[in-house]
Amino acid sequence: MGGVLGCLLTAWIIYNVLVVIGRLYLSPLSKIPGPRLAAATPWYETFVDLWYNNFPDALADMHKKYGPIVRPTPWEVSINDPDYYNEVYVTAGKRRTNYDAGSRSGLGMQDAIAITKDHDTHELRRKPVANFFSRPNVTRVESRISDEVRLLDAKLCRLKGTGSILSLDHAFTAYAGDIVVQFTCAEHPRLLDGPDFTPQWHKSICGDLNVVPLFRHIGWLSNLARFVPVGLLRALNPEVAGFRLFTLVGEGQIDKIKKGVAREDEKEGLEKKQSVFHDILRSDLPTSSLITYFVLADPEVKKRLEEELKDITAGFPEVVPRWAELEKLPYLQACIKEGLRINRFFRRNPRISPDPECWIGDYDPRMSRNFVPFTKGSRNCLGMNLGWAELYVCLAALFRPGGHNMSLAGTDESDIVPIFDGDVGAPKRGSKGFNVRFD
Ligand SMILES: *[C@@H]1O[C@H](CO)[C@@H](O)[C@H](O)[C@H]1NC(C)=O
Ligand SMILES: *[C@@H]1O[C@H](CO)[C@@H](O)[C@H](O)[C@H]1NC(C)=O
Repeated sequence: MGGVLGCLLTAWIIYNVLVVIGRLYLSPLSKIPGPRLAAATPWYETFVDLWYNNFPDALADMHKKYGPIVRPTPWEVSINDPDYYNEVYVTAGKRRTNYDAGSRSGLGMQDAIAITKDHDTHELRRKPVANFFSRPNVTRVESRISDEVRLLDAKLCRLKGTGSILSLDHAFTAYAGDIVVQFTCAEHPRLLDGPDFTPQWHKSICGDLNVVPLFRHIGWLSNLARFVPVGLLRALNPEVAGFRLFTLVGEGQIDKIKKGVAREDEKEGLEKKQSVFHDILRSDLPTSSLITYFVLADPEVKKRLEEELKDITAGFPEVVPRWAELEKLPYLQACIKEGLRINRFFRRNPRISPDPECWIGDYDPRMSRNFVPFTKGSRNCLGMNLGWAELYVCLAALFRPGGHNMSLAGTDESDIVPIFDGDVGAPKRGSKGFNVRFD
């Protein structure tokens, strides 16, 4: 028995030594600079990601040390050159893009459109969904967005004069959730109506983000979690339970779609929902908090924004300004672009202080070219139009003159700025959230 084990162990060690030699000396990537350890084993990335939670920072350091092209894992190359971005992210006419879901395959979203590997399958799956989320379609249902903004605003107005402190990030998550579920499922979850804006919804999404690195690296854990009852999971680890719940919400909705709505087949419904939920996670959520934070943190920015919004919001809440009109306001547009730019920490450039001013007047055209909040090319973000519309209308209501007397309540930049790679950017672990006082 001992002999057999010994043999197996020896074989395993020899095998791994050969694999490492192959990666270091024979791989087509062997000439790419970078730490030798990272080229030899994916566990380097896993360790940095799980132990320090700051692989983006580590990658930035690698680029500083080894130059614009580095090899952070045995099979990946990272290119840190904004001018090269447009070469990589192209539309279908230029080049077909296959996607390696490897790092995301542990997330239980193998069927989602965004991670469909093959270019043609991806196009086929994406097309109906992309039409569904086209700009005309979003505009057509804009009244839903207006209704949600009115509801959000009325709830915040009730806090006037109370000095209450509210987790505004919960409110934003409920707002985005209500809109996207209505848009995709023709159902109204009424998350904004819930006490304190249904914090469970926010927590299930954020718990989600925190376990993403774990599932990303150790894929079988998420499969294992499927077999454990949610109650037990919650007792063991609330974050993993949140992740599971999140998946279940999707699955439960699918049953309803199957029974009730005949106009779309079941598979399409599933994909739509998963992709869209994923998109909310990717773009909308942290951005609303980020923008609101930096507007509240700088009285000059706030004053300019309020002045610009004065006329267009004069009839609120009876008349809710339209997305198309709000888009024409240069300063509001600048604030939103700046928030999205900072949120794109995928661009490995997290610690920039916000400056909407840089989007006003004759700015460097490279800024527009390199502005890729929803990523570019044939795999850009599906919920993009919905995301823009939500942001514009919500921020206009929030910062209309005479609307709310808000101030930051014990929240600093480190609670907001995304530094943690949960597949999308998330603030540090133990962030206090985005707390705002209403007077
Ligand atoms: C809007 O979405 C529907 C699917 O519900 C789709 O059939 C239609 O083509 C879309 N309209 C536009 C203008 O994209
Ligand atoms: C806003 O609230 C603060 C108290 O935190 C108060 O000093 C200030 O006057 C209020 N501003 C307005 C415009 O009501």
